[in-house]
Amino acid sequence: MSPPHRSIATCSPASEDVAILELQALGIGAKPLAPGILLCEGKESATRISEAAMGAAVIFVRHLFPVQFEIGMLDSLANLVSATPTDLLAPRSTIAAQVRTFGSTGAFSRQEVTDAFEEHLRSHGAKIQRKNPAQVLSIVLAGGIAYGGICDTSLALSSWPGGEIRLRKDADQICRAESKLIEACQVFGVDLVSGQRALDLGAAPGGWSRVLALHGLSVVAVDPAELAEACSRINLIHHQRITAQEFLVRNRDELFSIIVNDMRMDADQSAALMCDMSGMLDSGGLAIITLKLEPQAPKAMLRKIADAREILEQRYHVLAIRQLFHNRNEVTVLAEHRTIPAN
Ligand SMILES: C[S@@+](CC[C@H](N)C(=O)[O-])C[C@H]1O[C@@H](n2cnc3c(N)ncnc32)[C@H](O)[C@@H]1O
Repeated sequence: MSPPHRSIATCSPASEDVAILELQALGIGAKPLAPGILLCEGKESATRISEAAMGAAVIFVRHLFPVQFEIGMLDSLANLVSATPTDLLAPRSTIAAQVRTFGSTGAFSRQEVTDAFEEHLRSHGAKIQRKNPAQVLSIVLAGGIAYGGICDTSLALSSWPGGEIRLRKDADQICRAESKLIEACQVFGVDLVSGQRALDLGAAPGGWSRVLALHGLSVVAVDPAELAEACSRINLIHHQRITAQEFLVRNRDELFSIIVNDMRMDADQSAALMCDMSGMLDSGGLAIITLKLEPQAPKAMLRKIADAREILEQRYHVLAIRQLFHNRNEVTVLAEHRTIPAN
């Protein structure tokens, strides 16, 4: 019998239980190593888990790498870095060392450890590239042990350390919610196309509308609540101060290229409303939806998401469901409007 595969999975610290349950469904045992860090062991390789995640089967695992070496923190950095399996370096490809530390790192700072690993990789002919590398050497230092492994960035699920996408601060930002839409577009590869029409449901205070308008989209922002003062100075944002349900009744014939929905609403109800509104979306048009999740038992949470997905699938192809770094008690869905052929 082949030995079990070990890997390190990252999730939001608040979602450890539900991430563990998802991994268990793939035959992978996982236990918390540090907040939001899970040590996994099972018959499925890290590659297989990545494939499942990319097929939207895994929602809460944000980042993943195979554990190829595990070594006690030594007093010498040279000994630590020499454990790196450099035979796994792809010739001529780019690589970054991503070091995350939890608790004490002993005698070295995180930066010193990163520099030492990068130097080691360089000395083996690797080309270090911190932004969008083809491969990553991931290291997690926790409980006095360094866990490390090299994999293709695409299989790590994110090119950011631990999948933690850090966005540059924007002084004009209206609210933190803006980061959720920016991250969703980056992670799901959604291009916001200038000149297109967008419908923003649950738009107040206006963060998502501002992001859409900054990309040149003309935005109908629907929310009974007020938008921030800054939105009134953006010509591309048109506020309809009514509920999404009222908007639907009054504007059935309008057509949009994209619908985004961040409404504070029960997930099933929000999904059902998206189906009712699908006729307002171009055929093949995209929807980005946050499904709000009450704190609940992990099984009930996965059931809730599965139910909302089933409802959405009446009118959409659900392309991805992920808990993004900027999501709190919610997950983000990317869906494509599916035209139902006439009988
Ligand atoms: C999390 S906030 C949205 C934040 C927004 N995405 C932003 O970037 O500023 C949720 C919003 O959903 C709105 N909402 C709740 N029920 C709604 C409904 N039935 N129709 C429209 N908006 C609704 C609330 O008024 C609230 O402003």
